Amino acid sequence: MKLFFKTAIAAIAIATTFAACGDQKTADEQPVTEQPTTTELQLKPVAERTSLGAKMYVTPQPALMIGTYDEQGNPDVMMAAWGGQCGGNQVCFSLSPHRTTTNLRATKEFTLSFATVRDVAESDYFGIVSANDVPDKVARAGFTATKSQNVNAPIFDQYALTLECRVAQIIEHEDGGCFVIGEVVNTIADPSILTDGQIDIKKLNPIVFDGSSINYYALGDSVGKAWNSGKIFQ
Ligand SMILES: Cc1cc2nc3c(=O)[nH]c(=O)nc-3n(C[C@H](O)[C@H](O)[C@H](O)COP(=O)(O)O)c2cc1C
Repeated sequence: MKLFFKTAIAAIAIATTFAACGDQKTADEQPVTEQPTTTELQLKPVAERTSLGAKMYVTPQPALMIGTYDEQGNPDVMMAAWGGQCGGNQVCFSLSPHRTTTNLRATKEFTLSFATVRDVAESDYFGIVSANDVPDKVARAGFTATKSQNVNAPIFDQYALTLECRVAQIIEHEDGGCFVIGEVVNTIADPSILTDGQIDIKKLNPIVFDGSSINYYALGDSVGKAWNSGKIFQ
């Protein structure tokens, strides 16, 4: 039941990001869905709750795959959970000093793909190993890259959904890392993850990252329509 609860939260977060942000008109046109049934928690008064400290507990987080070329044109890809959609056509993420960080500063362009249930091992590997240490990390995992036609960055043939992006702003950190804001210039989707021309999150089957348990989770079913389920209180 704990797993179900987490996947339900994930479904709401991802469905909101992918399907509803900035599209209230479309959501308004949908019928109001039934409220989800889930186990009631016996919540304690706030004064009786457990204080866990300032930890990595914003959960779930996306499992974003940042694709870049180095200055010689070699493709690299890394996993990033500290990021997401932060504007209508803007993405943002926080980077420590990695090969990707160096590449981004040089090329100012990148792709953003989504790790899925089908590629958990490969995607996790891209979050463990640096191209600084293993220059052929992409090939080692059996992945191949095709150059984007819109930005100087690789699209990985094995990821079904990829955003093509340009760096809009880099905010440097004292530790050598940085915060990156990117502008999405185009989206490349394999037809196999589309339904009626729209991204179908069930077909994409992305994973999310739980920073509390350090696990990846799949999503569950939709449990409500954004900008709509709450209308029962209007
Ligand atoms: C689940 C997971 C999430 C991660 N999230 C981030 C992140 O948000 N920012 C970051 O700088 N590194 C993150 N990393 C670490 C990088 O993916 C990792 O250091 C990678 O090897 C860098 O590759 P590169 O040097 O080839 O660019 C994450 C790793 C994992 C496994």
